[in-house]
Amino acid sequence: MNSTLDNVDVLDPTIAAPITNVAEYGFEGRFEDWTEQARYFEYSTAANPIGSGHTSRIPLTRFGRDLYADAPTGVIPLDLSRELGIADGPATSPGLLANFVRIRAGEHVAASPNATSQLYYVLEGRGFAAVDGRLVAWEKGDFLTLPASCRATFNADSDAALYWVHDEPMLRYLGAEATKPRFRATKFPRARAVVELEKIAARPGANDKNRISVLLANAEQEQTLTITHVLWAMFGLLPAGQEQRPHRHQSVALDLILDAQPDCYTLLGTRLDEHGDIVDPVRVDWEPGGVFVTPPGMWHAHYNDSGAPAHLIPVQDAGLQTYLRSLDIRFTGRR
Ligand SMILES: [Fe+2]
Repeated sequence: MNSTLDNVDVLDPTIAAPITNVAEYGFEGRFEDWTEQARYFEYSTAANPIGSGHTSRIPLTRFGRDLYADAPTGVIPLDLSRELGIADGPATSPGLLANFVRIRAGEHVAASPNATSQLYYVLEGRGFAAVDGRLVAWEKGDFLTLPASCRATFNADSDAALYWVHDEPMLRYLGAEATKPRFRATKFPRARAVVELEKIAARPGANDKNRISVLLANAEQEQTLTITHVLWAMFGLLPAGQEQRPHRHQSVALDLILDAQPDCYTLLGTRLDEHGDIVDPVRVDWEPGGVFVTPPGMWHAHYNDSGAPAHLIPVQDAGLQTYLRSLDIRFTGRR
């Protein structure tokens, strides 16, 4: 069958469809207008709302350990919603919310966000969580992930602090309720994560690899190889005297710093020079127990000019970005 149009005027959008008699259907007078919300922009005025400043960029921001060091039991959101122009709740990036959670000995914190993915990293202390009637113990250095629809209570045996990242801001934006778990609740014990990191560090040439890190993954995320279908998490070591060459990605990074001595830092910037170094970088010094936000698309490189190794745990929305094929991670090899 030849599907070629004899008369392209049929598809010419400047020509109206032939008139029909709506009275035939008996709906006359019942049609609603539905045009009140429609807006029309000339392309160049609206095609790049971030570049034009209409929509704010994610700010490079630091959050210190002082936010929770002496705090009573409670959740401390790392909130950039005002900077991001988000009016309906706290957010650290448009899609993610990072929090510090302080739980004093013998006390507890309840958590049931409308999120597809939750990641907890235990900064200090030990205790147990009750998740939908099931119990799991946790202690310093453990990672725990929870899927949609979990009702959890975290109970501390000793003074505890957690780093907690979830994607409730994305669900709020979508107007969606997360109801279907996409992975099983999973624990990554500290001891195993440390062993895996030591194995990688002990490999010949590990220090030349630019990166000594364990990528934590869930068996269910076959396409993305990430800790949940939305979240990505890495347990990393930056040895004394080492640097990690610049790289960039479209995921946001909410970087948690653990045991860093002075003169551990990250350089960030928007461009590389001909040697592959970052032009006019901003320096963010690492604060033990603190967090900093690496905005999407920025080149960043980590340096350890202290005399001691340092650990870090970046958390990103790179599970989602990888699934969307929009992660666009790039490394510089030049020097
Ligand atoms: Fe990164």
